[in-house]
Amino acid sequence: MGMRAIVRGVGHYLPEKVVENAEFEKTLDTSDEWIRSRSGIERRCLAAEGQTTSDLAIRAGRAALENAGLTADDIDAIVMATSTADLTFPAAATMVQAGLGMTRGFAFDVQAVCAGFIFALANANALISTGQARRVMVIGAETFSRLMDWEDRSTCVLFGDGAGALILEAGEGAGTAADRGILSVDLNSDGRHKDILYVDGGVSTGRTGHLRMAGKEVFRHAVEKLSDTAHAALEKAGLTGEDVDWLVPHQANLRIIKATAQRLQLPMERVIVTVQDHGNTSAASIPLALSVGSAEGKIQPGDVVVTEAIGGGLAWGSVVLRW
Ligand code: ACO
Repeated sequence: MGMRAIVRGVGHYLPEKVVENAEFEKTLDTSDEWIRSRSGIERRCLAAEGQTTSDLAIRAGRAALENAGLTADDIDAIVMATSTADLTFPAAATMVQAGLGMTRGFAFDVQAVCAGFIFALANANALISTGQARRVMVIGAETFSRLMDWEDRSTCVLFGDGAGALILEAGEGAGTAADRGILSVDLNSDGRHKDILYVDGGVSTGRTGHLRMAGKEVFRHAVEKLSDTAHAALEKAGLTGEDVDWLVPHQANLRIIKATAQRLQLPMERVIVTVQDHGNTSAASIPLALSVGSAEGKIQPGDVVVTEAIGGGLAWGSVVLRW
């Protein structure tokens, strides 16, 4: 017995401007071949001038409301994962709250970089299971294009902009892995690894700064930590790899996704992959992949879905849910 946080709706929004890998050949010493073979990325969407993270999030939120057959008044809380809030404060989530026309309840941001959506899901799950909210909109939205050093070929070709939203609703569960909704959560961080992935700006520097990444180092941590956290979450849920219908990983690099799937003994047919079209959209990548996977008819009600992500911090984690 107990309250489960059950998926009621999902939606996403991608900026109109699509940039193919070949575009970068004009300004950087890089190639479509290099980007494709090292990362699996073929194209990404970039926000228009003046288009902010909250703008993208509002559109994703509207799409999720429509998918759920709900209006903004039906939502008790918005938990938004982002590292690229429009302003230092207020929370981008409150801008989304206003933009959706939601005049009650509460909204706040969660900052765990690329793992942000996992941490936001964990927060929403806690709010629902403790009775503090009945319906929570969980958003992952980013404009990482604003953090790029466009002269740094080792990072600027990897990231994209976008937003995804999930609506979770309280529903009575039996307390077993047969329940629909969030079944388990595994969260981790280790601040000793700050220097391999960070933005060299912020309030302490007086400028926004640029993303800096030691790609190889991050890659090494990613494969090990992502499979470990997914295993841990599955174990907490009382499930094994064989029970998994869909792995929905953070979309940073196809080689990381393949290596993680292999460690979980999951064939690629059971993995939702969007990195080729979206690039790394940080906290937006998982809700984008959930929305695309659902819209394509792959993820169906009752399916066991494992999500996992790692990002700056390092921070990483996994959520297992039955759709
Ligand atoms: N085009 C051409 N060459 C390039 C480019 C480019 N765009 N970028 C780097 N190179 C060069 C490098 O300079 C290097 O040259 P060198 O050998 O002469 O020094 C060479 O390519 C190889 O670079 P590596 O770093 O060894 O390439 P690798 O195979 O490791 O792939 C990549 C790089 C794609 C960044 C990979 O390491 C990666 O994906 N890392 C993890 C990123 C990640 O998962 N991030 C997730 C979290 S993101 C977040 O939280 C914000």
